[in-house]
Amino acid sequence: MNANAASRIERRPWGKTKSGEAVELFTLSRGGAPTVAITSYGGFIVSIVAPDRTGARADVTLGYKDLAGYLGDGSYFGCLVGRYANRIAKAGFTLDDKRYTLAANDGPNTLHSGPDGFCRQLWTPDVVSGKDGEALQLSYVSPAGEGGFPGTLTTKVVYSLREDGGLVIDYTATTDAPTVVNLTNHAYFNLAGEGEGAILDHELQLESDAYTPTDARLIPTGELRPVEGTPFDFRKPVAIGARIDAADEQIQMGHGYDHNFVVRGTPGALRLAARVVDKKSGRVLETFTTEPGIQFYTGNFMDGKTLGKSGKPYVKRGAFCLETQHYPDSPNQPAFPSTVLRPGRIYRQTTVYKLGVVK
Ligand code: GLA
Repeated sequence: MNANAASRIERRPWGKTKSGEAVELFTLSRGGAPTVAITSYGGFIVSIVAPDRTGARADVTLGYKDLAGYLGDGSYFGCLVGRYANRIAKAGFTLDDKRYTLAANDGPNTLHSGPDGFCRQLWTPDVVSGKDGEALQLSYVSPAGEGGFPGTLTTKVVYSLREDGGLVIDYTATTDAPTVVNLTNHAYFNLAGEGEGAILDHELQLESDAYTPTDARLIPTGELRPVEGTPFDFRKPVAIGARIDAADEQIQMGHGYDHNFVVRGTPGALRLAARVVDKKSGRVLETFTTEPGIQFYTGNFMDGKTLGKSGKPYVKRGAFCLETQHYPDSPNQPAFPSTVLRPGRIYRQTTVYKLGVVK
């Protein structure tokens, strides 16, 4: 991929929030690499336009046609999820002997930090320069108590395009009081192009020997279950749809895949977690992360009623998400890798979404 030129950013006004604050849209480009658009509202990835094997470019992420769509988003299409991605059981946790209560928005549980999460906040954008050229930095200071979480949390997220065209997302956060943090991006991908039907024939490989099975409300039971002999075994490439309706209790509870996988290797080291190939278009997505886990979600809650950015219906299983993260409900699961952040320490996570093609 010709990405030799340094990365460039174009910025433009993109409307106003409901309270009248100005929102911008930033488009990152680098030679022939995929172009990536991100908005300062919610840190949403608004589009990733990538070539197929013939060079034809298509937008491979789901989203809305304008800011109004994002202001009303309920699907987390491409948003920057925080303070705590995925679920926290019974909308609360205990830290240093103190109980904290969060907003319940998924039955009795908290999903993606409740209604005041990072997806619903306006971020301060800055175009910064780094070794790859221009990068976008989004910053947000979350006041202590926001959404029920303790500590003033200062978060910076830098989006850049690597020389090989990979979209690098670097997250850092600091706090002034003990708290929990788990940040991710919730991009929905369809490598045939957004709105181009189901992703069941895409082939997935996951670098995971185990996953975290859940209860009926998708809260992990605490077990790390080997994938061997189950529909969760993606150690070799398998079509996403091959076992998605299997008579497996976990598949039935998730209405398909909606599970956290344990990424092989050492957390903190940037390593391959997932590879998806769409043989028809030739597009390939590789996901690298420093995180211990990755949520593989197959758009089981989409129903064709939402029309996407180009007017096409977003059908059930019309996209997949690979949300790099700490395991769901870690604040209530002492055996899981810790999500506690204390003053004086820096939370860091890096994820790379790299699009390419196969012959
Ligand atoms: C995550 C969750 C899913 C679903 C989506 C958003 O992937 O695990 O259950 O809530 O976010 O709809």
